[in-house]
Parts: sequence; structure tokens; C-alpha cells
Amino acid sequence: MERLLITGGCGFIGSNFVRYWLAQHPESRIVIYDKLTYAGRRENLLDLWDSANISLVVGDIGDQELVRKTCTDESINLIVNFAAETHVDQSILGPLVFTDTNVRGTHVLLEVARELGIRLHHISTDEVYGHIKDEHQSLETDELAPRSPYAASKAAADQLVQAYAVTYGIPVTITRGANNVGPYQYPEKAVPLFSTNAILGEVIPVYGDGLQMRDYAHVYDHCTGIEAVLLRGEIGAVYNVGTGREMTNLEMVDIVLDTLGQDHSLVRHVADRPGHDRRYSMNVDKLRSLGWEPKYDPRQAVAEAARWYAENRWWWEPIRNSEFREYYNRQYAERLAGTQTT
Ligand code: NAD
Ligand code: DAU
Repeated sequence: MERLLITGGCGFIGSNFVRYWLAQHPESRIVIYDKLTYAGRRENLLDLWDSANISLVVGDIGDQELVRKTCTDESINLIVNFAAETHVDQSILGPLVFTDTNVRGTHVLLEVARELGIRLHHISTDEVYGHIKDEHQSLETDELAPRSPYAASKAAADQLVQAYAVTYGIPVTITRGANNVGPYQYPEKAVPLFSTNAILGEVIPVYGDGLQMRDYAHVYDHCTGIEAVLLRGEIGAVYNVGTGREMTNLEMVDIVLDTLGQDHSLVRHVADRPGHDRRYSMNVDKLRSLGWEPKYDPRQAVAEAARWYAENRWWWEPIRNSEFREYYNRQYAERLAGTQTT
């Protein structure tokens, strides 16, 4: 029987993965290990807490003793590491915690995996490749060239995982995901922020000219991609997970506003994110070779996500009415002062 430690399982992708994995593999035992930062929310798994197959340990992945004890007590045979600080804008406002969690935290997990002989699957990101020029699509063998504190911390973690496989021969796999959208994404990220702002009739703050390109992939397809690698991936290998198709942020905004029936005059172009990567794009043929295909195209993924926020105000209204307000003002008040409609 698989006995999984899912770090960051109360976050956006982690909680979607836990729900997906338990539905597909009901015989598995899942231990969620999560610090419950602002982005980690018990309510993301409200429907599952009564299940006998799932439990929660509240802790930091940097706490080596607690990670070791949890893995030993629960006879864990697979760690899937979703835990991270994940928002680029937050990494610009306060970068050090990104190194603590994303680099040192991953390093601690590797040490425990090495000591106890556990397979580790690490969740990395397309941001490790940096800004992608022209028509190129990143291959797993491309050099890493991160450009934000978040991306640099994820690249360091990604390389530590690979170094441990080479040096100590521990069984690892890595997936590098594109920009995910879907249920339970904290509203600091663009699609849930724009959706919830549109629902509330508030303005949509688009950084710069809005022509940056992203592969907006449905979180469901990320979960099936990770599952494919866990079940059929080559040990030691890296796999990109996305749709391989990008759109501009302005196209994404159009889909959100059209889906929610809101007026495009809500759009405001505001001061750009420093060091904003212009384009991400990945080649996903290697994952396809495992028999995986994405179910959603990016347009459907964004529209479906926007609809979820319209239908699930219970989930995001308490967040928007709490400490999120302080962050929002810090990030946007100056940017929005004196902006014009498009
Ligand atoms: P999220 O911010 O929604 O959730 C992160 C989770 O990690 C939360 O539950 C949080 O409480 C937990 N956490 C944070 N610090 C921790 C620590 N020190 N110890 C234990 N738990 C801690 O993030 P997400 O969007 O679900 O991303 C999950 C993973 O996927 C991350 O590794 C991220 O880098 C990666 N990723 C995200 C995307 C995306 O589009 N969101 C795309 C590719 C890769
Ligand atoms: O690409 C994978 C990455 O996707 C993950 O590794 C990160 O964890 C995840 O946060 C996400 O990073 P991005 O920076 O691409 O996502 P975000 O939702 O913050 O922004 C998406 C795009 O929208 C990006 O080009 C910046 C732009 N944007 C974002 C916000 C929050 C705006 O124009 N305005 C905004 O207010």
C-alpha cells in the first residue's frame, strides 16, 4: 500500500492532488504535512477530513525531527513535496522566507528521504527556466535561468534534488508545472484575484502592457501529470507539465470578464512587477510519452476557474475580508492611485 507524505497538502495544488489521488487510489494512506501559512487552509479539504485514510500533521518542512518522526511513525514510502512559498510578488516584498522554506525545507526533506530510504517527488515550476525568448519551448534539459527570488529558490531546490540523486543515489523525480488555475487558489494569484475582483465589481490591476505570455493549465491536468510520473516515470528524471499553449494576460482577463459577464472597463494597467518574465512556454512531449494528455485547453481552464469563484464565495470571501486586505493595499494601493481605464 502507498503511504504518502504530502507536504503543502492544504494549499491550492496540494489539496487538489490529495482529493484526486484518494479518488483514484482509495487504498492509499495520506499524511498531509503542512505549516498552515496564510495559503494553507483546512477548508480546502473540508469534505475529506472524516476519511480514515487521511490525517494532518501541522509542521514546518524545515523541522527535521518532526519530518523524520512523522515519516517513521507513519511508515511513509513516498514524499510528494508541494510545500513552498509560492507567490512571486510576495517574494519581491519579503524574499528570505522563500529561501527558508523552498531551499532549506526541501533540503531537510532530502536528508530525511536519504536517511530513511524514501522516494521523493518534488514539485518544481516552469519559472526555473526564466524568461523564454521567441518561439522556443523549454525542454527538461535546458539550463535553469531564474529571475525572481521565488524562481531562484525553486531552481535551487530543483538542483538540490537532482544533486542528491547523483551523489547519494536516492530515488527522486521532479515535475515542473506551468501556471495552474482552478479551485482553491489563494486570491493573491492573477486568475482568482481578477475573478474575485470582477465579481465584486472592483478594478482589475494588469501589470504593464499585459502582453506577458503564460500557459494557464488546469490544476486537474497537473494532478494527472504528477500521477503519471509517480506511476510510470523514470526514476531520476524531470518532466514538464503544462498544455504547451500560451496566451497573453490580456487574453486571460478577457476570458475572466466574459465568463463572469463583467465590463471590460474594469481593467487598469498598473506599474509592472520588477523583473517580470515576459514569456513561459514548455515542451511537454516527455510527459506525453508516458501516455498523459491534458484534458483542458487554457481557455477552458481559465473560464472554468472563473466560474468556480462565482459559485464558491463561501471559500474566498472570508479570505478577502481578513489579512488579505493588508497585503492587497500594500501591493496595489500606490499602483492603482490615479490609473485610467483602458
Ligand atoms: P500554495 O501557496 O497554494 O500552497 C503552499 C502550501 O505549502 C500551503 O499549504 C502552505 O501552508 C504550505 N507551506 C508553506 N511553507 C511551508 C513550510 N515551511 N512547511 C510546511 N508547509 C508549508 O501553493 P501552490 O500554488 O499550491 O503550489 C504548490 C507547489 O507547486 C509549490 O511548490 C509551487 O512552487 C509549485 N507550483 C505552483 C504552480 C502554480 O501555478 N500555483 C505552478 C507550478 C509549480
Ligand atoms: O508559472 C508557474 C508559476 O505560476 C508558479 O510557479 C507560481 O507559484 C505561481 O504563483 C504562478 O506564478 P505567476 O507569477 O506566473 O502567477 P501570477 O498569478 O502571480 O501572475 C500571472 C500573470 O499575471 C503574471 O504575468 C503576472 C500577471 N499579474 C499578476 C497579478 C497578481 C498581473 O498582471 N496583475 C496581478 O495583479
